[in-house]
Amino acid sequence: MKKLVIANWKSHKNLTTIEEWMDVFISKLGKSLIPGKVDISIAPSAPFLSPVANDLDHGVTISSQDVSPFPPGKYTGASNAKQLASLGVKYAIVGHSERRRYFHEDHAVVANKVTQCLEAGITPVVCVDDEYIAAQAAAITPEEAGRCVVAYEALSAIGTGNNMDVAHVAEVTADIKELFGPVPVLYGGSVSAENVAEYKAVSDGWLVGTASLEVDDFMALVTVVAGF
Ligand code: PGA
Repeated sequence: MKKLVIANWKSHKNLTTIEEWMDVFISKLGKSLIPGKVDISIAPSAPFLSPVANDLDHGVTISSQDVSPFPPGKYTGASNAKQLASLGVKYAIVGHSERRRYFHEDHAVVANKVTQCLEAGITPVVCVDDEYIAAQAAAITPEEAGRCVVAYEALSAIGTGNNMDVAHVAEVTADIKELFGPVPVLYGGSVSAENVAEYKAVSDGWLVGTASLEVDDFMALVTVVAGF
């Protein structure tokens, strides 16, 4: 199976810097064999999903960084899963530790996001950390859990430059597969071109923050993954 690499731009970039990034990315990608070897998805902030999608070809997809836990309706400010699906969104990151910390999302809210995504045909990427993997899995029905992608996102490793020890990632990945079923499990936390090969044997892909912001860093990373 191809490895999945999701670029999580978080609340960075604007239309100008996105266009600059995309120009370089698309021209370099088009001259490479990478698209046939790696599943790449880009997760910009919601206002930029369409501009990024319009620029993409080579099989690269767009992902949402979040999704409403509610269906379409009277929920001011919310982008619901059906709206995102209509833009071509393939994956939605749900329950990122930054959403849990700064927006007070809990396991039940994340479970509702999973339901909304699956009903709309979007694959949720459920982010979990060591302490609450079991609690998060328990909040999602087994049938829905089996249709998710899960990302092991170690808080101590996110944005710190201290990527998690591979043996620990291997252990947690196995635990996640026991709880959710045989789903793809990504690792996220200071992944870069320099260290991604360490996780080749244990992870089904990677959620990449910092190393996705500069296009050269991200190209270097997907080039390494394409060589696996
Ligand atoms: P990082 O972010 O690569 O900057 O550690 C990963 C994430 O939060 O998804």
